[in-house]
Order: sequence, then structure tokens, then C-alpha cells
Amino acid sequence: MAYETILVETRGKVGLVTLNRPEALNALNSQLIGELNTALDGFEKDAGIGAIVITGSQKAFAAGADIKEMQNLSYPETYLEDFITNWDRVASRRKPIIAAVAGFALGGGCELAMMCDIIIAADTAKFGQPEIKLGVMPGAGGTQRLTRIIGKAKAMELCLTGRMMGAEEAERSGLVARIVPAADLLDDALKTAATIADMSLPIVMMTKESVNRAYETTLSEGIRFERRLFHAMFATGDQKEGMAAFVDKRKADFKNR
Ligand code: CAA
Repeated sequence: MAYETILVETRGKVGLVTLNRPEALNALNSQLIGELNTALDGFEKDAGIGAIVITGSQKAFAAGADIKEMQNLSYPETYLEDFITNWDRVASRRKPIIAAVAGFALGGGCELAMMCDIIIAADTAKFGQPEIKLGVMPGAGGTQRLTRIIGKAKAMELCLTGRMMGAEEAERSGLVARIVPAADLLDDALKTAATIADMSLPIVMMTKESVNRAYETTLSEGIRFERRLFHAMFATGDQKEGMAAFVDKRKADFKNR
């Protein structure tokens, strides 16, 4: 498929999507979200892909939903098309997704990063939910995911004032896994994704599912869910291979089964 708003590549076992609307700081319009979903569908179906990286430019991961596309929408239009709901497909992917964020990750850009599983930030990254300044609030999960990730006090402050926070504050708050120099961002994210893609894919997917369950259920139900998946892993060849490789002092060769 010919993409116009994103670039799509594979690097070994890693799928790479680069958001590519430089004229609008990668503002997320419906075309871009449609193309992103199509690219992720392809990576999910491709048995050779074990992890995905989504990145933007040095200036902006994404400066939010496209304000120019949104400004004249009416309430019935937003309601009837369930505006924004198709963005959530990013969050329900089964393969792990890393957001490699440099520059602005604002509004829907911050929300897109939070739909990913790991955020790696360049030292230039700036996160925020400035929708309040536009007379709206976050609509792609910002009030919910940000609050769960960084806690009520800071999420409330960011959502109510529109203040941006830099990479260091974002790391301190638990939003990002790691900060790297901007020049190393993509290499670092691709290397991290390649490390994950070298593991057993079903075990990686079950691990992602189990960590995400922590956001959706009680502790005791989550522990039970984890225990059941842990037991199921003993039915895989990759558990046998992984443990045999440790005992034999060699690198495991996972076959994804
Ligand atoms: N939508 C549409 N266009 C955008 C955009 C957005 N979210 N963000 C930037 N652009 C466009 C600008 O209009 C400008 O285009 P023109 O040259 O045609 O005027 C171009 O990108 C460059 O932007 P600036 O000139 O503003 O660049 P800057 O470096 O001076 O400022 C910025 C950068 C602080 C990020 C500023 O662009 C900005 O504040 N952007 C909007 C951020 C925002 O409010 N995001 C939330 C959107 S609402 C949302 O996301 C809802 C939701 O929850 C889903």
C-alpha cells in the first residue's frame, strides 16, 4: 500500500513506522490514523515481525490531533462516527510497540505514545495535554492513561493548565522508560525492539497481556491471570528451549511455539 502520511519499513524482525507530516508537526489526522492502523495490521499478521517502533521527527513525535481537521466538526458528526475511537486500535495490538519520542508529544501525540507499551524519550522530548487551551479536554485516553501512569496530582495539573513537561520530569514521573540523547533515539529504540523480537513471540505477547491486565483488574484477579499464563508457558517448546539453553550455557533459539 502507498502511504502518504507515514513511512513504513522493516528492520530485521522489527517493524518501523515513522509519522511523516512535517508540515503539521505530525498532527494526527484521520488519514494518518487510518494508515497507521493499516501498517500495524500488516505487522501483526507478519510472522517475521516480533516488535514495532513508532517514531516521529526530531522536532515532533506528534503535536496532537489535527486541530484544522477538527475545528468545524459538530457534535452529531463526532458522535455518529465515534470520532477518535479507531485510535484505540493501537492500544489493543498484541505485539509490543515502542514509542520513540523526540520533540513535541502533545495532546493526541502524548496519548498515542501512551497507547504504546514502552516510551523511550530523547532528551528533547516534551509531553503535555494542552487541549484545555483549545476549549476541549483530552479525547484519546489522556485523562485516563496519564492519571494511571503518573498519578492524579500531576495528571490533573497537566490536563488543567496545558503545561508541558520535559523528558527528565517525564522519566521521574514514570511516563518514560529511559531518556537517551536525541541523536541516538532511533538506534536505541530499534535495538530495544530487536532485543524483544529475539525472545519467544508467544511468551512476549503473553507477558504484554499480563502486564496490561494490571490496569484492568484487581490485584488478586491479576495475580491469578498471571499464574494461569505462567503455567501455560510450560506447554511451549520455547520454555523447554529457554531453560535448556541456560543449563547448556548457550543462547536460546526460540521457535515461537
Ligand atoms: N493540528 C494541526 N496543525 C498543527 C498542529 C495540530 N495539532 N500542531 C502544529 N500544527 C501546524 C501549525 O498550524 C503550523 O502550520 P502552518 O505553518 O501551516 O501555520 C505548523 O504545524 C508548525 O507549527 P507552529 O508554527 O505552531 O510551530 P511552533 O514550533 O511555533 O510551535 C507547538 C509548536 C507548540 C507544538 C504548536 O504548534 C502547538 O501548540 N501545536 C498545537 C498543540 C496542541 O494543542 N495539541 C493538542 C491538539 S487537540 C488533541 O490532541 C485532542 C485529543 O486529545 C485527541
